[in-house]
Amino acid sequence: MAADAVERYKLNLASFTKETQDKLRSLLPTIASIYNPVDIIGDASADRYHKSLELILNDPNVDGVLVILTPTAVIDSRETAEKVASLTSMNGKPVLTSFMGKVSVEKGIKILQSKKIPNYNYPENAVKAFRTMSDYQKWLNAPVSSYQTFKTRKKKVQTIFAKSRKKNLFNLGEQEAREVISSYGFRIPKSIFALTSKEALTAAEQIGYPVVMKIVSPDILHKTDVGGVRVGIENAHQVEEAFLEITAHSKQYLPRATILGVSIQEMIVEGKEVILGATKDTQFGHLIMFGLGGIYIEVLKDVSFRLAPLSVEDADQMMREISSFALLRGVRGERPTDIGALRECLLRLSQLVTDFPAIIELDINPLIVKAEGEGAVAADARITLEEG
Ligand SMILES: Nc1ncnc2c1ncn2[C@@H]1O[C@H](COP(=O)(O)OP(=O)(O)OP(=O)(O)O)[C@@H](O)[C@H]1O
Ligand SMILES: [Mg+2]
Repeated sequence: MAADAVERYKLNLASFTKETQDKLRSLLPTIASIYNPVDIIGDASADRYHKSLELILNDPNVDGVLVILTPTAVIDSRETAEKVASLTSMNGKPVLTSFMGKVSVEKGIKILQSKKIPNYNYPENAVKAFRTMSDYQKWLNAPVSSYQTFKTRKKKVQTIFAKSRKKNLFNLGEQEAREVISSYGFRIPKSIFALTSKEALTAAEQIGYPVVMKIVSPDILHKTDVGGVRVGIENAHQVEEAFLEITAHSKQYLPRATILGVSIQEMIVEGKEVILGATKDTQFGHLIMFGLGGIYIEVLKDVSFRLAPLSVEDADQMMREISSFALLRGVRGERPTDIGALRECLLRLSQLVTDFPAIIELDINPLIVKAEGEGAVAADARITLEEG
């Protein structure tokens, strides 16, 4: 049971050195098992426990020992506890015990408790404790957090927020949100606003095909849901068609929405869509979210979270934590994604929400991350400000 738990908790059963094996062989009866897990067999005395434990603790491959005892006709649990306890501070290696048998080992357990040796009724829990000790040690050894900040245009963002507040607008759509995040160093696709299909055409030609067209309306936050986004527009004919379609669809879905026009955008081709988000918790401040998947995010639910401000290490861990991280590194000959740019985007987002506590929600969906060295582009963003 203990050995199975070792595997389950992703620890390793130590392999003893040749020297330890030889010594155990000469110490123990021939039918004993001298390999890990060691079985000192049913007629073991307290003394045999003591000698075996001492040998094992001296093995350089061993980091800690779990001593298991079940009641037998010969064992004295009290004496065994005393002997085990006398060795527990050897080499600074932790010794845990699992004396099983409740009443019949009660005296032994009392001794263990008085010597501050944790005893577990079930060996699995002892193994779990080893796992926790190992995690804690890793945490203690982790490099100290480092923080990185960027030069940004904070003033500009202040102005944008002030303007929105004045208009009683607390949900900022793509147009305003674009300006905010680009002030914090995010790359955004070229974009031109068009009032008419004729203007749209001029814009598309200026940007260069293929383009993306999106509805612009203060009342529409999820543009796709109302048929308000068209991607992969290749020519003049398609621009005109898309203009009519987008405005008509949006009107149809939301008759009372104010439609300002359509934005024509540079189409970002080739890249992985990820989402970056932030929500504000009244107790803990901003919680930053990261996930892969663009439109599939709600289905995959493969996301990671950290509280802002993010350290560089936090950002790295957030990326590595999601189970689809392998997709970012590239599968089957794909070029790896620009992880460095993605890390920087997470840190810039963290800086933005930390500078502006009034942001209660922000998402960049999608951020399109290109191949290594080519950066990332924020194709859509949304910001919600605190009212008042
Ligand atoms: N400039 C662009 N280049 C390439 N693809 C784009 C671009 N803009 C949008 N897209 C694609 O179209 C999808 C929908 O666009 P967008 O995110 O702007 O709409 P949305 O309805 O507001 O989305 P959501 O509500 O899910 O945030 C994106 O997820 C992306 O796949
Ligand atoms: Mg979007």
